[in-house]
Amino acid sequence: MEVIIRPTTDAAAGLVAALVAASVRENPRLVVGFATGRTMERVYALLVREHREHGLSFAGITTFNLDEYTGLPAGSTDTYRSYMHERFFRHIDINPANTHLPDGNAADLDAECAAYEERIAAAGGIDLQLLGIGAVGHIGFNEPLSALRSRTRVKALSPKTIEQNAGAFGGDPNKVPRRAITMGVGTILDSRRILLLATGTDKAEIIARAVEGPVTGMISASALQLHSRCTVIVDETAAVRLTEQEYYRWIFDNEPEWKAYQ
Ligand code: F6R
Repeated sequence: MEVIIRPTTDAAAGLVAALVAASVRENPRLVVGFATGRTMERVYALLVREHREHGLSFAGITTFNLDEYTGLPAGSTDTYRSYMHERFFRHIDINPANTHLPDGNAADLDAECAAYEERIAAAGGIDLQLLGIGAVGHIGFNEPLSALRSRTRVKALSPKTIEQNAGAFGGDPNKVPRRAITMGVGTILDSRRILLLATGTDKAEIIARAVEGPVTGMISASALQLHSRCTVIVDETAAVRLTEQEYYRWIFDNEPEWKAYQ
């Protein structure tokens, strides 16, 4: 794992967008895992700009989102399918047939989870996975005590996650679905490269625990320490609780891999 600290929220999101754009340019048939949430909104806005202003084409990529709520009414604008369509997919040249999210209204949710794993495998696995981190330290909806080897499954949301996500439901926690389909921690760890983006003071404590604390099922993001190619990108405010900041800053300033992004 490596940690990159950028001065502002915009610079941190900009670095993630630049890394995604470079990966798509290098491999136009990239298989990308996407996340939703407030943190990612800026990344999608920047990728849309890259498409419009610099002609970045997403026509050949295949995408798999991390998660989807279960049981929202058909056509609801609160689904993650709707989030991705509104903020990203409808603005770019992606082939809708190549965009995958779990179906939270499937008649047989367990069968849907198994089929989602099969679809990822059939696509050759995920080349690049984007992640945010929740207040409980989740990646996807892998709530506390998620097995570190878990696969795509239905998960009950923790009270803290329901509270965190209530904003998208008019601030009413009672409107937030209680369950979601999520890729498992094991599914996420199978990705070839992982980028986790965390910004803002609210994320400082959980980022420090996930990155510098012990690997524990209580904080599913801590399992990323087991991944051989995971980059955690934070802004200054999310970095304040990290103890090895000096080292992380040295890496970005000196390692050849980061020269192109300075
Ligand atoms: C969303 C997801 C979640 C979010 C996390 C952070 O698809 O999987 O893990 O990335 O809850 O959400 P925000 O960015 O809203 O703080």
